[in-house]
Amino acid sequence: MKQLDWISRPGHGLHGVVRVPGDKSVSHRAMMLGALANGRSHVRGFLEGEDTRATAAVLQQLGVRIETVGDGERIVHGVGLHGLRGADTPLDCGNAGTGMRLLAGLLAGQSFDSVLVGDESLSKRPMRRVTEPLAAMGASIDTQDGLPPLQVHGGKNLRGIRYTLPVASAQVKSALLLAGLYAEGETEVIEPHPTRDYTERMLAAFGWPIAFEPGRARLSGRHEMKATDIDVPADFSSAAFFLVAASVVPGSELRLPAVGLNPRRTGLLHALRLMGADIRVENERESGGEPVGDLIVCHAPLHGIELPVEWVPDMIDEFPALFVAASVASGRTVVRGAAELRVKESDRIATMAAGLRAIGARIEETPDGAMIDGGSLAGGTVESHGDHRIAMSFAIAGLLSRDGIRIGDCANVATSFPGFVELASACGFQLGIAD
Ligand code: S3P
Repeated sequence: MKQLDWISRPGHGLHGVVRVPGDKSVSHRAMMLGALANGRSHVRGFLEGEDTRATAAVLQQLGVRIETVGDGERIVHGVGLHGLRGADTPLDCGNAGTGMRLLAGLLAGQSFDSVLVGDESLSKRPMRRVTEPLAAMGASIDTQDGLPPLQVHGGKNLRGIRYTLPVASAQVKSALLLAGLYAEGETEVIEPHPTRDYTERMLAAFGWPIAFEPGRARLSGRHEMKATDIDVPADFSSAAFFLVAASVVPGSELRLPAVGLNPRRTGLLHALRLMGADIRVENERESGGEPVGDLIVCHAPLHGIELPVEWVPDMIDEFPALFVAASVASGRTVVRGAAELRVKESDRIATMAAGLRAIGARIEETPDGAMIDGGSLAGGTVESHGDHRIAMSFAIAGLLSRDGIRIGDCANVATSFPGFVELASACGFQLGIAD
């Protein structure tokens, strides 16, 4: 198949109202918990991305009826905690680390065997971080030297454990909590730094007894979940590209309505403000148990910062965009404590460093971050290595470049942000598909 490349050309002020799609983390979890609940859950604002559709398709393969009643709207006919049935073919998680890791936990407690597979990028991502603690709970999951496919052997009696995560990861925490639903006794997860707590909040919304606070979650197994309706907020990580773009392109002003503002997701907002950005939050409210608000962002001159290490987990998906902001800010930006970026959809430190250098930026890689000296961007050709967030970040860089940028391998943007090219073009990006 022909590779999809983009051309992003220099542009001027960005203007308008940008409605970004639903939150990826919440959409995955809504499908999974809806499936395990008793009754019908109506999900609105579901992300129509390849990652979240893959999770829905896996659950359908496991016997769950999921009706598409409109764009971003699903009715999940829950089968109850023990209602899933085994599939005779592998379960394809596509590009989605969240899908595979959470499903590993969910499937570990079933009576049947399953095989979880993924695409080329997912097949290179570390899985021992979930299979080892799950094994301590009594699960049996084979990997290929720590990598997918995952062979999940069913029929195991799980028991709760108390587990301290070596690395802050909401995916690992969530996998253990989902296995904990099937375990005897209590499962407790302790984090080195609090991570997004959607699994905990949503379990509570579905009526499962759970105690949680930042950095800690505890539940016991063998209760039941009652179906509930879920409004998925707009994804802060998708909004992030527009926050950066409008901040750095002179003359810009954008409004992003109803964006999810869970405090474990908004690290980039704080980082950009520390750099001098002009971002306001209006109309703050709660929707479906999650804080949401409208973001108004205007261009402002940015300067480099030493990013506080404790903010890293709260903006773990936003570094490619931050690196672009830093490459046009005045002075130096230093990022440390972000080694996790090396095991995302691509090695995001290496991919961003190579791409930024290719277009004239000054960036030095370190094992757990980078040092970036702001300046101007000439333009050229960069590779996204099939990483959606890298592709969208270089689209911003193109706007600011002298000659434009050709971005290779952008098809995976559809995993998290279907319609990005159209939405970005509507507010002033000069973005198109390359011949
Ligand atoms: C996610 C957790 C994060 C994040 C990913 C989504 C989640 O991964 O990068 O995009 O939905 O739980 P880690 O748990 O690996 O940090």
